[in-house]
Amino acid sequence: MSEPALSARVQQLRPTAVNRILAEVRELQGQGRQLYSLMRGEPDFRTPAHIVEAAEKALRAGRTTYPDNRGEIKLRDAVAAKLEREQGLRYDPATEILVTTGATFGIHDALMSLINEGDEVLLPEPVYDAYLSPILLAGGVPKQVPASIVDGRFTWNPRDLEAACGPRTKLLLLNTPWNPTGTVFTRGELEAIGELALRHNLILLSDEIYEAITYGAARHLSPAALGRELRERTIILNSLSKTYAMTGWRVGYCAANARLTQAMFLVLQQSSRGPATFIQDAAAAALAGPQDCVDAMRVEYTARLAQLTEALDGVAGCRVLQPEGGFFAMLDTRVLQVPSDDLRRRLMRDNGVVTVNGSAYGPSGEGTLRVSFASGGDNLSKGLAALRQGLAEI
Ligand SMILES: Cc1ncc(COP(=O)(O)O)c(C=O)c1O
Repeated sequence: MSEPALSARVQQLRPTAVNRILAEVRELQGQGRQLYSLMRGEPDFRTPAHIVEAAEKALRAGRTTYPDNRGEIKLRDAVAAKLEREQGLRYDPATEILVTTGATFGIHDALMSLINEGDEVLLPEPVYDAYLSPILLAGGVPKQVPASIVDGRFTWNPRDLEAACGPRTKLLLLNTPWNPTGTVFTRGELEAIGELALRHNLILLSDEIYEAITYGAARHLSPAALGRELRERTIILNSLSKTYAMTGWRVGYCAANARLTQAMFLVLQQSSRGPATFIQDAAAAALAGPQDCVDAMRVEYTARLAQLTEALDGVAGCRVLQPEGGFFAMLDTRVLQVPSDDLRRRLMRDNGVVTVNGSAYGPSGEGTLRVSFASGGDNLSKGLAALRQGLAEI
């Protein structure tokens, strides 16, 4: 008997770059190899104690029933207060905020709510590769607009964006701070993108998950904060994963006008129905509570970035593109003229250090490696030493 066919929809999906590389890592580890991983976007901090305590307290208080599917009102209130405090943005917690199972579900939900078969979604490229499969799942067409390295920074040219806009273009997915490149869009850059979105009647999906982790003078700005018209056509996607070291808690949120939020609420009701109630209580404690834990993590990431820069200083054929935000640095290795996937494999096999090839994020990432400093300590110092040696040998 032949096996039942899988849906055509699911056959388009691909594993993420990190999952693909993880399979290789596990194989080598199975052979007894010790590897240092500078690959994942997984903070190595414990979730701050007051957040864990809020979850414990909620569990003991019996907060284990179905959550309000929009999100518990205490958490929606905390999200609204945070957006007003940090971006000067006002959202009505009753109708304009939705609590999601991480940003991953928020992205999926927004795409499912808006895309008709064949609608195009503009994306920066190199791009967080996990955006592509949900666009395909929703019936959309990803249209990647290449960025280039200008003055040591990945930058998008508005003319390229303009040229990519066609009659079927409906959405523009933006990520600032931008994984994998580390670019934080400036006000001027966002204004140019916003102007284009208005002119072409696009909806902006703004993934702001790295907002709290910025360096030097760079500051996160949401495109929704650029004016009333843009607020009305932006869906803010965010989560507590990175900011509060809560990747495994699976809690995030969206903010958008009431019509868009209602559409997303329908999708959510018919699928995830939101994170567990006691997790939402902990998330409310995180957003409404003291923020010094976030500041402390930012200080530590800043020190790790300096450590990375120093460790790779002077290595021929490798330039560190200084990130303005997030916890990844792109190494520009174009002069070596080695395909980035070959370079990654060689560094893993011969030197025991795991990175991600820039080409995993699109053709414009070719000639670069993404190095994560989300984990510090011994793993970072030994991984950087191995990376330095490996690159020097090439
Ligand atoms: C740009 C970006 N968006 C979304 C996510 C997923 O976030 P969450 O853990 O909230 O689902 C990641 C995780 O690495 C990411 O890098």
